[in-house]
Amino acid sequence: MDKRPIGIFDSGIGGTSIWGKIQELLPFEDCIYLADSKNAPYGEKSEEIILDLSIKNTEYLLSLGCKIIVIACNTATTNAIDYLREKYKVPFIGIEPAIKPAAINSQSKIVGVLATKGTLSSSLFHSTTKNHAEGITILEQRGTGLVEIIEKGKLQSDELYRLLEAYIKPMLEKGMDYLVLGCTHYPYLIPILKKILPADIKIIDSGQAVARQTKTVLKKFDLLTTSTELGTYQFYSNGDEKVLFNILQSNKLNLTVSFKDF
Ligand code: DGL
Repeated sequence: MDKRPIGIFDSGIGGTSIWGKIQELLPFEDCIYLADSKNAPYGEKSEEIILDLSIKNTEYLLSLGCKIIVIACNTATTNAIDYLREKYKVPFIGIEPAIKPAAINSQSKIVGVLATKGTLSSSLFHSTTKNHAEGITILEQRGTGLVEIIEKGKLQSDELYRLLEAYIKPMLEKGMDYLVLGCTHYPYLIPILKKILPADIKIIDSGQAVARQTKTVLKKFDLLTTSTELGTYQFYSNGDEKVLFNILQSNKLNLTVSFKDF
């Protein structure tokens, strides 16, 4: 019953991987996406700064009339979602590394998690791991430098391949059979990861689960649109909007990408 847009934010262009899943599942919903690329990466910043940036993004999306906020960033979710839920009236959807399905399905009982320093050191990550991965060895690997390369749009560079190989190989040697991508930028690394990983190693991320949860919450609060026209999508970047545009380019949907200094 509600035509207002879904607001989505990330520290940069990575959360577009989440937007992609949302628009597939909820094709009639309008969305506004904020890429806070000027401040990326969040993962190396203090909890206080991540919280301030998350408040800034939320308030901007609310000023644009959004009915729900999707935090398409593991680092911002794990550090700020409790505060945001308490402070603002709209519902918030967050994203966390998909430890639970990996732990349930792992045969070797060894699960690798590639995520930012900010996510791996958060208390939410530790409680999720404690609650959902009993008897599982979790190999934590910081993806230092990956977000910066992706933010430059260099998705095919040798530098990226070498860095990923250095992060992944030790986890393979220790017997991981599931690799959890704990940062929304990382689904864009899947083509390279598939070259590095043996075919029987599963890669898992949380994009689809976030889209399903967004639909469930919109339904619960009677916030789904009744429109039967395909949604429109506004993307704003406070960094290089061309990089954001390029990552979306294969898409033929009704979208606009612009620079905005939010
Ligand atoms: N996409 C963000 C996440 O999911 C990237 C974090 C960063 O900016 O370091 O964690």
